[in-house]
Amino acid sequence: MSSALNTLISYLRVPVMASSGIAAMLSLALYFKQNEIIYPRNFPPDARTDVPRPLQFGISSYEELRIPTPDGESLSAFYLRADKRTSRNITILMFHGNAGNIGYRLPIGKVLVEDLRCNVIMLQYRGYGLSTGTPNEKGLMIDAQTGLDYIRQRSELRGTQIVLYGQSLGGAVAIALTARNTKQGDIAGVILENTFLSIRKLIPSAFPPARFLTPLCHQIWPSEETLPKITDVPFLFLSGLQDEIVPASHMAQLFQICRSKVKIWKELPNGTHNDTVAEPKYFDYIDAFIAEHVVR
Ligand SMILES: *[C@@H]1O[C@H](CO)[C@@H](O)[C@H](O)[C@H]1NC(C)=O
Ligand SMILES: *[C@@H]1O[C@H](CO)[C@@H](O)[C@H](O)[C@H]1NC(C)=O
Ligand SMILES: *[C@@H]1O[C@H](CO)[C@@H](O)[C@H](O)[C@H]1NC(C)=O
Repeated sequence: MSSALNTLISYLRVPVMASSGIAAMLSLALYFKQNEIIYPRNFPPDARTDVPRPLQFGISSYEELRIPTPDGESLSAFYLRADKRTSRNITILMFHGNAGNIGYRLPIGKVLVEDLRCNVIMLQYRGYGLSTGTPNEKGLMIDAQTGLDYIRQRSELRGTQIVLYGQSLGGAVAIALTARNTKQGDIAGVILENTFLSIRKLIPSAFPPARFLTPLCHQIWPSEETLPKITDVPFLFLSGLQDEIVPASHMAQLFQICRSKVKIWKELPNGTHNDTVAEPKYFDYIDAFIAEHVVR
C-alpha cells in the first residue's frame, strides 16, 4: 500500500491528541477524504500521465486496450500475448496495488508472459493511470468484472484457463471477483500477495491508537468474510514476512480460513510490502502452482 499509509497514519494520529471539536472535524475530513488515502492514484505525482509501455521493457507482442465498463468508464489495460508455439493456454488477469499504475508492474508482466508463458491482462482500475473515473470499492469491482468478461469474450482468449493475480489491494479485488464468479467455473486459480483481512482490520493492527476511528471507514474490502465462501478454486498465498504495511499475520489468517481444497502457502522471509515480488523463488512458486494445480 506504499506511502499512502503514511498519510493515513498522520490523518489518524492527530485526532487522538486533539480536542474533541477538532477531532470531530478531522474525523469528517477522514470520512470524506479516505478514498484519496486508500487509493493514492496520484502517487508518484506523474502516475496519471506517465505510464511506461511494454515496448520499453522489450515486450513486443502486446496490445494497449481500452475496455468500456457498463457504467460508462474506460479502462486502460495491457494485453501481453504469450508466444503461440509455447503458450500454456492460460490467461493471468493482474490486479495491482493501490498506488502507481500498470506500467510500473510491467517487469512482473514480462516474467509472466516470457518465462511462465502465460497471456497476461494488466488491468488498470478506474481513476488510475490512463483509465477514466475515480476509484471506490463498488467501482473497482465493476472494473474487475469488466476485465474478466473481456477475457471471456475475446475469441483468442476464450477457453484459456483464467488465473487471477492480486497484490495487496489487488488481492482483495481477486478474492471478491472469484466469489462472484464461482458458477461459471472458469477461474482456475488465484494468486494472492501481501493482502489484508479487511481495510478496517488493517487500521487497528497497523495503528492501534486510531482504532476508535475504524467505524468511519466506508471502504471495506471484507476478504475475511468473502474468502471462506470459495471452496473449489486453487489458491496460492505469497507472504512477505517483513511486510511493514500489511502485517504478515493477515496473510496467515487468510490462509487459515481459506476453505479451498487446494491452498498453497509460500513465504518470502525477507520480503517487505513492495519488494516481495523481487525475492528469490517468487516466480518459481507461481510456476509450480500453475504446473501442479492449474494446468488441466
Ligand atoms: C486451450 O484450452 C481450451 C479449453 O481448455 C481449448 O479449447 C483450446 O483448444 C486450447 N488451446 C490451445 C492452443 O491449446
Ligand atoms: C535473507 O537475507 C539474509 C541477509 O541478507 C540472507 O542471509 C538470507 O539468505 C536471505 N534469505 C532468503 C530466503 O532470501
Ligand atoms: C516501496 O515503494 C515506494 C515507491 O512506490 C518506495 O519509495 C519505497 O522505498 C518502497 N519501500 C520498500 C521497503 O521497498
